[in-house]
Amino acid sequence: MGQPMIRAEGLVKEFTRPVRRTGPLAGLRSLVTRERVTTRAVDGVSFTVERGELVGYLGPNGAGKSTTIKMLTGVLVPTSGTVEVDGRVPWKDRTRNARGIGVVFGQRTQLWHDLPLRDSFELVAKLYGLDRPDYERALGRFTELLDLGEFLDTPVRGLSLGQRMRGDLTAAMLYGPPLLYLDEPTVGLDVVAKARIREFVAETNAVDGTTVVLTTHDLVDVERLCRRVLLIDHGEVLYDGDLAALRRRYVPYRDLVVTLAREDDGPLVAPPGTTVVEEPRTARAGTGASDAARVVAFRFDPAQTPTPAVVAAVTAEHEVVDLDVTDPDLEAVIAEIYSSGRVRA
Ligand SMILES: Nc1ncnc2c1ncn2[C@@H]1O[C@H](COP(=O)(O)OP(=O)(O)OP(=O)(O)O)[C@@H](O)[C@H]1O
Ligand SMILES: [Mg+2]
Repeated sequence: MGQPMIRAEGLVKEFTRPVRRTGPLAGLRSLVTRERVTTRAVDGVSFTVERGELVGYLGPNGAGKSTTIKMLTGVLVPTSGTVEVDGRVPWKDRTRNARGIGVVFGQRTQLWHDLPLRDSFELVAKLYGLDRPDYERALGRFTELLDLGEFLDTPVRGLSLGQRMRGDLTAAMLYGPPLLYLDEPTVGLDVVAKARIREFVAETNAVDGTTVVLTTHDLVDVERLCRRVLLIDHGEVLYDGDLAALRRRYVPYRDLVVTLAREDDGPLVAPPGTTVVEEPRTARAGTGASDAARVVAFRFDPAQTPTPAVVAAVTAEHEVVDLDVTDPDLEAVIAEIYSSGRVRA
């Protein structure tokens, strides 16, 4: 203990490529001048991840997320900076590093296309020197957790995206690595498949204590799974900390949305610490409210006025047929940060 699982310091990755020119003699000219352009995909990223943490690594397209993950997994060598993963330098010690990590890239599979899923797993088990009983136990557990039974004998190329992703997760975790990198594991999946992947990630983190670094554009993934997030853009860290704190900083309020029993319930009394935000909304079906029922939101800062106090005060003053407490949309918060390119202090 004591030593973090991941320590990245001043991580930089530049990609250099020849300038492509168009027009006559273009190829010749670039050959002669050898003009090159450099992209700084990752520009001085530092962070640590403790053992057992589950961290969301978020940022807009092209922010440098996948490039960072590739450096952490040892696939890419940084231009400068240092990384230590479980005490190892990933790109120097690739074999030992590979044994200690599971990796899933949602955009492409690591499985063997023509082999049945089961055979892919057998190969992974051989590759990582798993004992037969350990392999059987692990496969049994994942088959149950991820419901693989129906397609274990289907060749990978015949799997649906959701099935393939579950196969990829299993292959990544069969040998019980203490660290799991997930780069967009829910991309393109339906709601049921996404939920299953999330449950799996939550379970492996909570039960096995697996450290997880998760990249995703799906904010439901983030809400369900991540307490801590790292936000990056243009290769730089914009925010590293608690997701709840980030939300509080941007939108420090909650809404108590109530459906009043009658359309005109007289003047509304906003309890202390709340303001009325009246939006024309339709009452929800099945609440017993008439179509014309009035829906009103009481906005409050939960740090100042506790939610139960607001509920008690509002229901004491008004006859209410339905109520709901809503937090502001994380999407709005993230969009604001991406568009302004900074995190407000
Ligand atoms: N092999 C490469 N050669 C040249 N440029 C690259 C290479 N890989 C990535 N880049 C560039 O580096 C930048 C960061 O790319 P990266 O794939 O890390 O972004 P990302 O945050 O994962 O984005 P997305 O959300 O779209 O997956 C982009 O400008 C990309 O074009
Ligand atoms: Mg990416």
